[in-house]
Amino acid sequence: MTARILALCNQKGGVGKSTTTFHLARAAVLAGKRVLVVDNDPQGNLTSVAAAKVVGDDQAGLADALSARAPESIRDVIVAGVWPGLDVVPTSGTTLGYVRDELVLAGAGREGRLREALATVANDYDLIFIDCAPSLDQLTINGLTAAEAVTIVTHSKLFSANGLAQLLDTIDNVREYYNRTLRVTGIIINQHEEQTVSGRTWHDDLITAAAARGLTVLTPPIPKRVVISDATEAARGLDEWGSAEATTLGALYADHLASIEGALS
Ligand SMILES: Nc1ncnc2c1ncn2[C@@H]1O[C@H](COP(=O)(O)OP(=O)(O)O)[C@@H](O)[C@H]1O
Ligand SMILES: [Mg+2]
Repeated sequence: MTARILALCNQKGGVGKSTTTFHLARAAVLAGKRVLVVDNDPQGNLTSVAAAKVVGDDQAGLADALSARAPESIRDVIVAGVWPGLDVVPTSGTTLGYVRDELVLAGAGREGRLREALATVANDYDLIFIDCAPSLDQLTINGLTAAEAVTIVTHSKLFSANGLAQLLDTIDNVREYYNRTLRVTGIIINQHEEQTVSGRTWHDDLITAAAARGLTVLTPPIPKRVVISDATEAARGLDEWGSAEATTLGALYADHLASIEGALS
């Protein structure tokens, strides 16, 4: 069995891509899956919570696995994650930013480097999550080219119909040129403020915009809760937090994982 590969994308920062990747990975680990998370953002936020040990700025990572100038393969750079069953392709320091620039100048085949790298380890995992950068550049194109499906994570307030259109155009381009079978599993609305009128309005507007493009919004939205950021910063699963609220939220990520996997099969 080869891994299912899912990219989490949005060209906006701060919407919750890394947080969602982390808790979906936890849900998958709890379900007994062998999980690999790929930190495809030069900021390295996911690495700082998902890797079991601190990854030094000079330690090899995703950048080395993607660069034509570094000898490391992806297998060489994988580190253990914070839970048994989780591995991480880490990013730290500034090198992934340089590799992004290298990719801009690289020739044919540049968009397929992550896909080729992941193909060499895909048999070791059940699920691979690619946490994308807040951009629509070569790194994100590599993520979309490597993935079987993409889940869009958004903050309903920020994601104008225009932002959605730009991302969907990029996905369409990748599908046309590099990855014919790329699917969109749907949109996760994160940091939802259900108790405010504006939160509900944004939510309804986004559902309308998504439906107009034939996309599903995964329900229910993930609420804005301090415990989600606290648990993430502490590198803990919500099930490990010890409050009833956290446990309920952990189950919500498990439900979303089930919907995503349903859309994949
Ligand atoms: N559902 C949520 N509730 C509360 N805080 C959240 C939630 N999701 C994300 N955050 C916080 O929002 C910030 C941005 O999230 P992050 O996952 O880093 O976004 P991105 O990866 O899209 O840039 C972080 O401080 C994170 O802890
Ligand atoms: Mg992030």
